Amino acid sequence: MSIYRRKDLLGLRDIEREEIEAILSTAVPMKDIITRDVKKVPTLKGKSVITLFYENSTRTRTSFDLAGRYLSADTPNLAVSTSSVQKGESLKDTIKTIEMMGPDVLVMRHPLSGAPHYVARNTSMHVINAGDGINEHPTQALLDMYSILERKGRLEGLKVAIVGDILHSRVARSNIFGLSKFGCELRVVGPSTLMPSNIEKLGVKVYTDLKEGIRGVDVINVLRIQRERQQSGLFPSIDEYQELYMVRTEHLSLAADDAIVLHPGPMNRGIEISTELAESSRCVVNEQVANGVAVRMAILYLMLGGGKDEIAG
Ligand code: CP
Repeated sequence: MSIYRRKDLLGLRDIEREEIEAILSTAVPMKDIITRDVKKVPTLKGKSVITLFYENSTRTRTSFDLAGRYLSADTPNLAVSTSSVQKGESLKDTIKTIEMMGPDVLVMRHPLSGAPHYVARNTSMHVINAGDGINEHPTQALLDMYSILERKGRLEGLKVAIVGDILHSRVARSNIFGLSKFGCELRVVGPSTLMPSNIEKLGVKVYTDLKEGIRGVDVINVLRIQRERQQSGLFPSIDEYQELYMVRTEHLSLAADDAIVLHPGPMNRGIEISTELAESSRCVVNEQVANGVAVRMAILYLMLGGGKDEIAG
């Protein structure tokens, strides 16, 4: 019997370590499915997973779509840009309208922190948070954890530096909540203007010097500079950010010998990560994308109560 029995997946702040372990271990056979010639099992036949993204996405939306299809669920997408949202339909009415059509799971991204939590309280559908404002992006953190586990063989006790725009990063917050449950030493590294006040209260060490922040770490998770969420003046210029905080191949000599580099994507090459590093074998960005499908398959499977024998088949 699985330990994961939640109606919704809204964040990693309040989730138990055992629930994360259930998702990560279920993702292992899911990854096997997506390496087969025929990437299809009947596990979720008759179920439907609808995606509703109020912000742009390549990885998250497409991987949920494929994750559902590989498990034989139907995966319609409600394209916000061509929907009645553009005629002024409210979030509440949009959700009720979707609910009445009968999907089992709603995967949603919204610019307002807490929007999926509001929706989850007001619908019988399972709700998965695919990113809400600057709050959380739980499935990104889970695929990051899976990718670290795959390369390192463990999470327990690893030193992890999260580098960049911490202030606007839902990826950083979900990684902090998730990895702290596994006893990782967590560091956040970036300019003080992109550091949330009281971030230390989440159990992280704060560094404004990149070289100090990544010294001896096992994992460097480089964040995207989110220019769309920034008011002007949070750092002097892109040139200065690049000079002080762009992670380059030569920085790896400061980290542990076998340190790996993650990036949630999309990458601003030449701003937060050098192209040489992005394309090196130490950077797992492409593995993260593939693992994202497996992890999202695991979440859908556990949420909708699929049978174990069907995965093996
Ligand atoms: N990492 C991530 O959320 O990417 P997308 O915005 O492309 O979904």
